[in-house]
Amino acid sequence: MLRSKAYRLFGILLALVFITGCTGAAEETADPGLLLGFSQIGSESAWRIGNTRDIERSAEEYGVSLMFENANQSQENQIDAIRRFIAYKVDVIAFSPIVEDGWDNVLLEAKDAGIPVILVDRDIKTEIDGLTTCLIGADFYNEGVMAAQYLIRKADELGLENVNIVEITGTENSTPMEQRQAGFADTIADDPRMHILESIDGDFITSRGAECMRYLLETYGEDIDVVYSHNDEMTLGALPEIEKTNMVPGKDIIIISIDAGQEAIDVLKEGRINCVVECTPNLGDELMETALRLKNGEEVEAVIHPVEQIFSDEMDVSAIEPRGY
Ligand code: AHR
Repeated sequence: MLRSKAYRLFGILLALVFITGCTGAAEETADPGLLLGFSQIGSESAWRIGNTRDIERSAEEYGVSLMFENANQSQENQIDAIRRFIAYKVDVIAFSPIVEDGWDNVLLEAKDAGIPVILVDRDIKTEIDGLTTCLIGADFYNEGVMAAQYLIRKADELGLENVNIVEITGTENSTPMEQRQAGFADTIADDPRMHILESIDGDFITSRGAECMRYLLETYGEDIDVVYSHNDEMTLGALPEIEKTNMVPGKDIIIISIDAGQEAIDVLKEGRINCVVECTPNLGDELMETALRLKNGEEVEAVIHPVEQIFSDEMDVSAIEPRGY
């Protein structure tokens, strides 16, 4: 649903244009600046809420008028939002695609309307050239690599000869799900100790993380050595399920998560998670700078990845600074 603040702002801009048009006032008072339409996936995680907050903060700091829509986890809602941005003739459209497929028609409409499109956080799959200008988001493949490299080091440290892994994945057909899975699988592929017992879709949400963990415990029980979970929400859902058994997460089962939001870092400090790979939601400044460049007709980089790190029981976790999301 469109936020009322954004509506009010847009109304003021329209009123300015209308007033100056009627009175013949100086043209410079009618400059509406950059109008950016942004379609967010939803509010499924602390990461997503932090990402929304960062984009809103950044729009205000850069003086960008933001038309923000929350799609509540629906691709259909995102497509409708993009159509509304086209109808409003925004200067630039940005969106975080919930899944990779199914965007061609609406993006062709944006292209025909001459509105540049920025992908934020996640990528799309398409056979058509020139539908989007650039992608600003994490290197999810590398996040999977970092998670697997940690596990290999941990297995060495503990002298493990056989490592049974269960994987709770993010939303099927989404970029972080596919790339976190591929980066992890490719990195453990040459290590004969590593076996993935099962990968199961947890949709990036806490309740599904709990459900998946219940099923995995019923199916594999004490054979599970490692839980590799594609985000903190699913990890935080899985932990209480493990704690209902006689196994202790962080000790009997190695827990690896991704995002590194505050709640997961607190649990890492308690020793119930072993490793959290960072995925930063702070993409707002890059988005505003890129949108302003596009409005000015300048070239932009095709892919912008933030630098990310790993937090784990290999380090002094008490020194980790507050995360802000
Ligand atoms: O696309 C980024 C992922 O989406 C984050 O890891 C997850 O928490 C969010 O829902």
